[in-house]
Amino acid sequence: MLNIREGQPSDLAEITRFDQQLMVFDQTFDPTLNLSWPLSQGGQEFYKARLSRAEGIAWIAEDEGRMVGYLLGCLNQSAEYSRPEVTAEIECLYVDPSRRGEGIGGRLIERFEAWAQAAGARRLRVTVSAANRSALRFYRRRGFRCFDVVLDKPISGEGSRADGG
Ligand SMILES: CC(C)(COP(=O)(O)OP(=O)(O)OC[C@H]1O[C@@H](n2cnc3c(N)ncnc32)[C@H](O)[C@@H]1OP(=O)(O)O)[C@@H](O)C(=O)NCCC(=O)NCCS
Repeated sequence: MLNIREGQPSDLAEITRFDQQLMVFDQTFDPTLNLSWPLSQGGQEFYKARLSRAEGIAWIAEDEGRMVGYLLGCLNQSAEYSRPEVTAEIECLYVDPSRRGEGIGGRLIERFEAWAQAAGARRLRVTVSAANRSALRFYRRRGFRCFDVVLDKPISGEGSRADGG
């Protein structure tokens, strides 16, 4: 039976393995990703901070003791120039490809939202690659709306200037 529980330090190896899969998936949309980051010191410290709740939280979906999905998130204070407000950010969300469409991703978000609300957050945020259409549809169906848009342009040397000069 599917169970959603809080992550704990002993989940580090499985979270690392799943996050490597997420990065391989995301690389389809974002060629700047560093696939060796999950095993780097910075990557391991990031997971440990979420799994120990030192910063943020990890939610694990498991079935018969086997991890089938996870969500990592944290709380962010608003920028100095904004009204003071806590925002909860979904940093990583991934469901095993063989278990998608069963509502696991939706349940992970529900748990995160309840945790964030109890922690005083007023908004949820997530950054999604513009080309990740199925994730965008997934979030829109759950009440998320496009907020900021980040524009990107590779610099390719001569002739890259917008005016062509
Ligand atoms: C986005 C993601 C987390 C959703 O997880 P999930 O467990 O499939 O989510 P749910 O089952 O709650 O909902 C999936 C949606 O796709 C539909 N769906 C049906 N079959 C599906 C399948 N085989 N695969 C994916 N989605 C399917 C569901 O009906 C549902 O539709 P809705 O969003 O219109 O309600 C998952 O697809 C995933 O891990 N994607 C790759 C990583 C990613 O894009 N992460 C988010 C980027 S931040």
